[in-house]
Amino acid sequence: MIVVSDTNNIKPDSINPLATNISRVLVSSQDIQKRIEELGAQISKDYAGQSLVVIGVLKGAFPFMAALIKHITVPVVIDFVAVSSYEGTSSTGVVRFQKDVEEPLTGRNVLVVEDIVDTGLTLHYLMNTLQVRDPKSLEICCLVDKPARRKIEITSKYIGFTIPDRFIVGFGMDYEEHYRSLDFIGILSPKAIKP
Ligand code: IMP
Repeated sequence: MIVVSDTNNIKPDSINPLATNISRVLVSSQDIQKRIEELGAQISKDYAGQSLVVIGVLKGAFPFMAALIKHITVPVVIDFVAVSSYEGTSSTGVVRFQKDVEEPLTGRNVLVVEDIVDTGLTLHYLMNTLQVRDPKSLEICCLVDKPARRKIEITSKYIGFTIPDRFIVGFGMDYEEHYRSLDFIGILSPKAIKP
């Protein structure tokens, strides 16, 4: 497990003007890329000789999934779901299903790729929905795990980084739809958060 502390004081060095609203870099672009390579290698090993349906949870998982699948060496089919439970910086607790997968899942190895697991409510809802379709296997790969705020138990087989209870942005994660394009994970300055 890779646990990230938020005591570093690294300032963002990014061409993206939105980076000026980041008070600290929590995980650098280099560390994210290195970890994604490791996750891809582990997944390739675990599913050797088999194939995989990789389902990205829109929108946040898209940069992570795009990077991850390049490091998976078994045959992969991709699909997406869209669910939402967040407004601003807190979960509403009500999960809404906005887009379903197109692939049939029965008898197939399914790997759900998520940007961050926080309360666990989104994935709990999603995993129950997908399990009903009778996949051969169903696992989670998340870039970031924030276990401090968990409301329901969720076990991700693959976790990029475990972080303290901070609201983070970048590498797919947003605040009010911004910051997804940053290539690092950072902590938003309080001044950038609406009261
Ligand atoms: P959960 O249902 O509380 O586990 O929330 C999962 C979803 O909330 C993630 O897919 C993100 O979209 C969003 N989320 C949770 N924590 C953060 C954060 O720190 N920054 C940005 N989005 C977050």
